[in-house]
Amino acid sequence: MSNSNPIGIFDSGIGGLTVVKKISSILPSENIVYFGDTARVPYGTKSNDTVIEYALQDAAYLLTHNVKMIIVACNTASSVALPVLKERFDVPVIGMIDPGAKLAIETSRSGKIGVIGTNATINNKAYSAELLKHNGSLEVYEKACPLFVPLAEEGWIDHEATKLIADEYLHELKEKQIDTLILGCTHYPILAGVIGESVGENVELIDSGVAAALVVQKYLEDQNLLNNQAGKGKIDFYVSDLSSKFEEIAGRFLGNPVGEIKKIDVDELVKLI
Ligand code: DGL
Repeated sequence: MSNSNPIGIFDSGIGGLTVVKKISSILPSENIVYFGDTARVPYGTKSNDTVIEYALQDAAYLLTHNVKMIIVACNTASSVALPVLKERFDVPVIGMIDPGAKLAIETSRSGKIGVIGTNATINNKAYSAELLKHNGSLEVYEKACPLFVPLAEEGWIDHEATKLIADEYLHELKEKQIDTLILGCTHYPILAGVIGESVGENVELIDSGVAAALVVQKYLEDQNLLNNQAGKGKIDFYVSDLSSKFEEIAGRFLGNPVGEIKKIDVDELVKLI
């Protein structure tokens, strides 16, 4: 494996660009290949079997680009498919759950930690299992917040409706007096302002994408696999469906306009596994 090989990142759709943003700011010299399964998004409402099948195809697609590692930016796919992906592929696979959980444990003083995510992530209890594995005396409170995904995509970052929905979802966690809240979904960092306002300033928000970016950096350093090129790395974007709103939403999630985007047929993905 050469240092200049790209890092592969996949997500159910556009949301994983929040993770690309963090990786490319911490590791600007790295080349990145991003795949967003926009034809089959959302994953958060699908069965575990379906998410595992899609995640295997997404990871196999990234490997056609000779990626040196795979980052599962999608929290839903991380919560369901990580063990299968690790077993199936030879390259290292890093998900969102373990890094996010560890950063939350380091951050919390009271040991009362909240977790929000899609229905699938919360129903699978991926974060609570990981948190309690490290420290059985933690108090963990989880809440699925499915409406945050379309609100983030719609750009309703500071909208009155978003504030009302945030209060409705988060009041239970606030009543439990959590001091740390894991944003366990690619889309939620976009709504961090409203979420933070709703739970109150004493609650630290944990962005699993930031936590994962730090784990990736350490891994590449330890393995001597950092890309040492002087200039900025190249980011290639691939999606399975290209809608007219893609560029607008993608730009918001990435924090920059997205360059050229290539479309991959789902039929091609299915053939890979
Ligand atoms: N990317 C998903 C996640 O982080 C959110 C969108 C979806 O449901 O596919 O869980």
